Amino acid sequence: MNKQTTHAPPEQVDIALGDRSYAISIGPGLLDWVPSYEGLPSGASALIVTNETVEPLYLVRLADVLRLRYATVHTVVLPDGEVYKTWESLNLIFDALLAHACDRKTVMFALGGGVVGDMTGFAAASYMRGVPFVQVPTTLLAQVDSSVGGKTAINHPMGKNMIGAFYQPQRVICDLDTLQTLPARELSAGLAEVIKYGPIADMAFLEWIEANIGALMARDTAVLAHAVRRSCEIKAWVVSQDEREAGLRAVLNFGHTFGHAIEAGMGYGQWLHGEAVGCGMVMAARLSEALGLVDQAFVKRLTTLIERAGLPTVAPVLDAKDNVGRYLALMRVDKKAEAGAIKFVLIDGPGRATVRSAPDALVAEVIRSSCGAA
Ligand code: NAD
Ligand code: GLY
Repeated sequence: MNKQTTHAPPEQVDIALGDRSYAISIGPGLLDWVPSYEGLPSGASALIVTNETVEPLYLVRLADVLRLRYATVHTVVLPDGEVYKTWESLNLIFDALLAHACDRKTVMFALGGGVVGDMTGFAAASYMRGVPFVQVPTTLLAQVDSSVGGKTAINHPMGKNMIGAFYQPQRVICDLDTLQTLPARELSAGLAEVIKYGPIADMAFLEWIEANIGALMARDTAVLAHAVRRSCEIKAWVVSQDEREAGLRAVLNFGHTFGHAIEAGMGYGQWLHGEAVGCGMVMAARLSEALGLVDQAFVKRLTTLIERAGLPTVAPVLDAKDNVGRYLALMRVDKKAEAGAIKFVLIDGPGRATVRSAPDALVAEVIRSSCGAA
């Protein structure tokens, strides 16, 4: 366990949400650094939720450090995968909470990627109508996006993240060292969400990513620290303006309308969430171009960066007989859809996003030109 007080102080990004404000700590070596947990609610027990892949890597270290703070530390280990982001897995968490007689002061810890984080957050929002929880994200995607901002959910076979709640964590602890064990494909998936912040909010950040994509892929800790911090700063700013997505927050879903259709249409887990978002951003940029909002050079620039991040840019065929119809049907289940009209996050000039609908004929053309062979 890392008790030393000479540890370099982590970088910190604050989410300003009144009495639901919290800090995101970012740095190497934070997982078992005792000060990472100072100031958290101090109930009698803690429950760590993780999965079967993360358990052997990091569970003992987290449990050991939490035992200094909580009299009992329980754990629940879920099956790994997007395909398990379900009612059944959620019930395993409730089973553990009840079996251990956890009370309203029990603090829940989500140790893992976005799947564990989203499910733990939803369980924390609903157990006894709400218990405190802490995000300890161990994937790049979770550190730059899913652990921040309080969206929690499970999937429904008919739609992604359709059942959930807004529920903010007490703290987010991003230990950059955990990213060293991530499979390369998962690192790339996380880079999709990092890249996302450029076109929607900060072209200087996009330029920085272009210049540092090699170091990001090589997992240079200092470069990862900047990527995580800048991503969290942008997300924190957006979430503090519009916590419950009345409007602005939807821009964080750039690439997600097409991306969710790919994930659901392929079957959850076939394409990683970040891969689907990467390809979805290419499709959304093409739609932006078709509507005259950005030029071809911008679409090419973004597509090149997404490719360099190791992400797919050719969309899958979801239905050999009626591919466009299948995409459109899946996108109508998106949470942004209103009265059946699909809403897209589009780029309205570099660094600026807008949320709007588009004529079906244009969307169909983008789907046709983006998909590979069946
Ligand atoms: P994930 O949680 O499935 O993790 C990816 C894989 O990496 C899993 O196999 C996991 O076990 C493994 N893993 C995790 N940490 C590891 C580590 N340090 N070393 C080795 N392996 C590790 O996927 P993800 O990409 O982290 O998250 C995707 C999910 O996040 C999706 O369900 C998506 O809907 C959700 N999401 C939510 C939000 C939000 O705002 N709540 C935002 C974006 C995405
Ligand atoms: N990942 C999108 C959001 O948090 O709003």
